[in-house]
Amino acid sequence: MSRERKLALHIYVYSVFITGLLILSYILLKYRNISLLGVVLFGALFFGADNLSVPLPKAGSVSVNFGFSLASLIIYGPSTALLVTLVCAFNIREFLRKVPYYRHLFNIGQFLISMGVASLAFESLYDRQSVSFLYPRNISVIFLCVLVFFISNTSLTASAISISERMNFINLWVFNFAWLIPSEIFLGAMAIAISFLYKLYSPFTLIFTSLPLIIAQYTYFLRIRERRALLSSIMQIVKVVEAKDIYTAGHSVRVAEYSEMIARELRLSEYAIEVLRNVANLHDLGKVQVDLSVLNKPGEFNNLDWEEMKKHPIVGYEIVKEITFLRDSADAILYHHERMDGKGYPYGKKGDEIPLFAKILCVADSYDAMTTERPYKKALSEKEAILELKRNSGTQFDPQVCEAFVKVLERRG
Ligand SMILES: [Fe+2]
Repeated sequence: MSRERKLALHIYVYSVFITGLLILSYILLKYRNISLLGVVLFGALFFGADNLSVPLPKAGSVSVNFGFSLASLIIYGPSTALLVTLVCAFNIREFLRKVPYYRHLFNIGQFLISMGVASLAFESLYDRQSVSFLYPRNISVIFLCVLVFFISNTSLTASAISISERMNFINLWVFNFAWLIPSEIFLGAMAIAISFLYKLYSPFTLIFTSLPLIIAQYTYFLRIRERRALLSSIMQIVKVVEAKDIYTAGHSVRVAEYSEMIARELRLSEYAIEVLRNVANLHDLGKVQVDLSVLNKPGEFNNLDWEEMKKHPIVGYEIVKEITFLRDSADAILYHHERMDGKGYPYGKKGDEIPLFAKILCVADSYDAMTTERPYKKALSEKEAILELKRNSGTQFDPQVCEAFVKVLERRG
């Protein structure tokens, strides 16, 4: 991370932390009725949920802890809810993982801001004098509070990531957080059930009402763990392929990085970028079936060698299309050696018959081949490779993809 971005991130984190503390102080002074029982009971549940939270792909985590602070807000009011939220400062797992101190400050600040703003909106609209707890206006206010918390919480986190990683805020938000909307609505409903039973019967009902929330969190955990296991297996497969092909060590990882750079310049969604990265990592997987004598041949290829080499996109495609997560984009592997003018292989597809991901892979793959040394050729400099990309734009490469990559490379200097 550059010095400027580091500085911007630190300024942002401290601003979030200080704003969080100011909101906490304001609420504690304005709403002086604090329930010690509420802080202890809901604080303990919040602590459990927060320490079992599930990390998200880019940053942030999924936890049902908000369900408990929301229930404490409905039952006891803003001050109790904010003290319950403050329990996020005691995330033991993050301390054990030696997470940098500014991430703790950010977590505390963003939780206090989000819960604080949601509490203020809640308190100004919620009718505490209402005879029936399940009065429609109050139910709507609870869901409005969920919405305010969700937007504030996820926007603060997405802003931090977009500052630190120079990623598009909207793309990031859509990919990393938008899919959580249904679960947030579920949390709102659960908070209503928890507070209804708690008020009507006793605090003991928490034993029964908190269980579904913990199960919901475990479901999140399984979903994320499945994705991580898949990504880790993909990287293992890449290592196997690269161990076989001694001249292309690190090639797939670099192609994945270049592909991501192009995709960001083309403003593809974060979801598309993640799929593309995985496909790019696996683009040469089919080389596992290419004869070793061809793969590691020190000189230039003859016709027979080329025939052997040309089967790798088909073999790679046949393997990757069996991976559910990547099935829809596996054809990028099949066509990554096709050219815009139809002179590529294996099928001689041309122009728009070639999918976008394959066009991106083709540019990224060729650039890496140009800029790395092989026994039969010297590596081109970045400047020479850019000229080569421009020269082949429209014939070998898609002009739009080529232009996007050249732009990124020139900007990078
Ligand atoms: Fe290839």
